[in-house]
Amino acid sequence: MAVNWGVIGAGGIANGRMIPEAFLPEENVNLLGVADVNQKAADETAERWDVKSYDNVEALLSDPDIEAVYIPVPPFARAEVTMMAARFGKHVLAEKPLAMTGAECEQMIKVCRENNVQLGTGFMMRHHSIHMKMKELIDAGAIGKPAGLHARYCLWVAEGKGKSWNLDPEIVGGGPLQNQGSHAIDICNMMLGNIRDVNAFSDNVTHNYGVPDMETLLVRFENGAHGNLDIWYGVPNWYGRRLLEVFGSEGILRAEETLGQLPGGTLYYQKAVDGGQTESVPEEIPVTPQNTYRAQVREFSKAIESGEQYSVSGEQGLHVQRVIDAATQSSAQGRTIPVDIAEV
Ligand SMILES: NC(=O)c1ccc[n+]([C@@H]2O[C@H](COP(=O)([O-])OP(=O)(O)OC[C@H]3O[C@@H](n4cnc5c(N)ncnc54)[C@H](O)[C@@H]3O)[C@@H](O)[C@H]2O)c1
Repeated sequence: MAVNWGVIGAGGIANGRMIPEAFLPEENVNLLGVADVNQKAADETAERWDVKSYDNVEALLSDPDIEAVYIPVPPFARAEVTMMAARFGKHVLAEKPLAMTGAECEQMIKVCRENNVQLGTGFMMRHHSIHMKMKELIDAGAIGKPAGLHARYCLWVAEGKGKSWNLDPEIVGGGPLQNQGSHAIDICNMMLGNIRDVNAFSDNVTHNYGVPDMETLLVRFENGAHGNLDIWYGVPNWYGRRLLEVFGSEGILRAEETLGQLPGGTLYYQKAVDGGQTESVPEEIPVTPQNTYRAQVREFSKAIESGEQYSVSGEQGLHVQRVIDAATQSSAQGRTIPVDIAEV
């Protein structure tokens, strides 16, 4: 049995990745059609991929054949469209960041629950084969007791480059941390359990636009491990921009070029020899790559069919947003902020 999907928001990520790489090739999935506030975008997308163009969002949501919707609208519109979809009884895979604030995420979770539909967050990097392998190795004790982590997810973003709304806080809710950084926070949570305390610097160092260009976090996880995250728009693209290192009492895992849209990258494992007294050689761990966008659609569709919660839940999107909210507060107040962990 295939799950019938609709897409709301016929823009870059829908046309560039999710429709061609996930919805169309995946076997247990049918993409029925698309809707957008920009009718031209919906019509062109529908024609390009040979699916239906709906006259408006309500028309798509009123189609009884559609069971689930993917919502890649800009962040400011995500809560409203998600809650509308839930009220029409559709399961929702919402792009990241889940919304603009933790409070909006909480509302979305409540409305999805009330309407008995699943809410998933589009953190497709959880399906990256290397991240999955790292998690498996950590859980199997390969690095001993996890002690610390370092994540870098950086790119050069100058004014006038790329999507202008990425630099508009009214549309995105924040800067690099809200945008790219939400993925990085989620992968850190995946590795070591959720972040509990946050210290942040959030500044304009290189560029002078409406959001910060440099956001740096010092965090403590619920298991006591420490971490730091560099989420920067102000450094050249070629300078080691995607890195994830997890340090433990008995070894280190290091992933290069895995934070991003592509399934590749390299994973190294370095075991501590003689309690770390003797230097060991990093070993490359071979991993078979998979398309992360396709995996998220496959897994979400399976969850709908089985009735089990999709593994990357709305609650995970909420936790990441609460970390971002805490970082904003920390940067403004110059102190450590505990992350809100109240249940919704
Ligand atoms: N997971 C990833 O790898 C990844 C990559 C790129 C973008 N994204 C996320 O996807 C979202 C969309 O990004 P994009 O680059 O595709 O943006 P985009 O601007 O190219 O497309 C967004 C589309 O949404 C439409 N839209 C706006 N408000 C709407 C509403 N209320 N109802 C219906 N349609 C509406 C716009 O007209 C536009 O066509 C963002 O949140 C972004 O962070 C995720």
